[in-house]
Amino acid sequence: MCGIVGAFLATGPVTPVLLDGLRVLEYRGYDSAGLALADGTSQGVRVIKSEGRIANLDNRLAETPLDFDAEDLCAGIGHTRWATHGPPSDVNAHPHGGTGTRLALVHNGIIENYTELKAELQSAGVTFRSDTDSEVLAHLIERALEEAGDLVEAVRSILGRLEGYYALAVLDRHGGRNQLVCARSGPPLALCSTPGGTYLASDILALVAHSNRVVFLDDGDIGRLQANGFEIWDKDGRPAERLATTVEFNSAEAGLGHWPHFMLKEIFEQPDVLARTAFGRIAASGDDVDFEDERLGGDTLADVQRVQVIACGTALHAGQIAAYLIEGLAGIPTDVDFASEFRYRSPCLVPGTLALCISQSGETADTLAAARLAVKHGARLVSICNVDGSSQVRESEGVVLTHAGPEIGVASTKAFTAQLVSAVLLAVRLGRSRESLSREDAAEVLSELRILRSKMGSLLTKEYVEDIKHLARSHMEQTGFLFLGRGVNFPVALEGALKLKEISYMHAEGYAAGEMKHGPIALIDSGMSVFVINAAGPLAGKVRANMEQVQARGGRVVCVGSDPESLTATEEALAVPETLEWLSPILNTIPLQLFAYHVARLRGCDIDKPRNLAKSVTVE
Ligand code: F6R
Repeated sequence: MCGIVGAFLATGPVTPVLLDGLRVLEYRGYDSAGLALADGTSQGVRVIKSEGRIANLDNRLAETPLDFDAEDLCAGIGHTRWATHGPPSDVNAHPHGGTGTRLALVHNGIIENYTELKAELQSAGVTFRSDTDSEVLAHLIERALEEAGDLVEAVRSILGRLEGYYALAVLDRHGGRNQLVCARSGPPLALCSTPGGTYLASDILALVAHSNRVVFLDDGDIGRLQANGFEIWDKDGRPAERLATTVEFNSAEAGLGHWPHFMLKEIFEQPDVLARTAFGRIAASGDDVDFEDERLGGDTLADVQRVQVIACGTALHAGQIAAYLIEGLAGIPTDVDFASEFRYRSPCLVPGTLALCISQSGETADTLAAARLAVKHGARLVSICNVDGSSQVRESEGVVLTHAGPEIGVASTKAFTAQLVSAVLLAVRLGRSRESLSREDAAEVLSELRILRSKMGSLLTKEYVEDIKHLARSHMEQTGFLFLGRGVNFPVALEGALKLKEISYMHAEGYAAGEMKHGPIALIDSGMSVFVINAAGPLAGKVRANMEQVQARGGRVVCVGSDPESLTATEEALAVPETLEWLSPILNTIPLQLFAYHVARLRGCDIDKPRNLAKSVTVE
């Protein structure tokens, strides 16, 4: 959350480069946007910013004649904000300056001790313009710069005073010289360099337009950008070399193409994502999974006595399904917890615990903190993650990369099903490594996984989607939604409810179908839509009984799944091809994603940028 960009070009103008970067990062926060440009005429830094979307910033730029030669504009920074301290407004928009005009700063993160620092600065006569914690940083650096003269030294001298976490970039123009410096502790920051200039961004998506070789700063690092490259120093001030990561996707893949929304595009990519994530890892024998190239060979998975799954949001739902899979296929006891809860527990982890952290971005603050706690308590860390080079990946002993490609829609879709596919692979590998899963059973799961690609395709045909649109139209005036599932499809119910509420703002709850009678059944009336997820399999009869209890009380039931009897017992149904019970969540999720999408579309919601949300939650 919050997107940061910066560029130091060999020749200007830098403004369109910064704006293009911000547009790519707008999904990280859309409360305000702004730029700071090295101003060749006034010998200072010019800040232009606006509340709201980047379109407002475009308008403001059009109204603001830059009375200096655009060709001189070769260094600048930009920011797109997800508000933490202070409401969305022009004054709270980044970049923030100090008392004078020589520098401006952009920040992602939270400075926890900003009230003390602010009070100290105020008592020294500093006047604050915004309610943000970030403005404190601009004033501190400005004062330090007066003494140090060098921006790297000035930034370094204040970092020790900060509590909290930050990715920041500062632009200084003084005496005809531009200085551009960045620093990171917590939220990500990456750099790349080309013959045309050097770039920084809080997300590699904003860098791939320039280069597919990117370098992530480590925690505590400070970087200095110049037109011909960058230098990095570690937390102790020593020059540091950081390995470059090759980004697998290109900027076209991160574009919308002909699709109306990223979410729809990403839903339709799911069959290909399954193939990319699974097929290359199925061993030639067809009865095992080969992770040898992924830091998961050797003994990382040997001797696992217990698995602790940790994640947030949609990734947590994938983790809950992973727990059923690991227990069911590998016979290893598995617990699951919200990362935000786990990080403050005193966990009693038995020897041989594998901490399995699941994250699309690999930068979720709670998941990273929980993972570190698990490691501190003796666990080995394995991650399922979509972003190579992310903090989560770099800190893990073993990694299963999901090859979902860039996920831009704030509501996670393809990353979720890729996480489920990865969990299946991991469960099979764990089962085979301890021989708790027979070769025959492993082969059955893996060959069905191959067939799943075309089964997914059958849920994305024009006719199927038309049925879902029709269903969305007839349910959009309902007062509320319940999603019910059991076993491996219980987390699918949670995910169906989350998708609907986050993009359509309709109230929706996911529940374990068997728990209904212990309270929520009181909610049932004809205004309540109840989606019952029921896959053919051992629990189908039980779920059917739960469904009948809802029907008997006048609830409006929609059955989703492959259980033939449930599908014929309801007037409204979305049939899903039959598959193995373990794999059924991958299919059952798709109609629920499409239903949420179409309800939100009918209600005129901003699907890719739902209110109050932002992708990649890098603050606590
Ligand atoms: C919901 C959604 C969020 C994320 C959660 C974790 O659609 O996307 O709930 O799943 O914020 O994010 P990652 O997976 O990046 O750790």
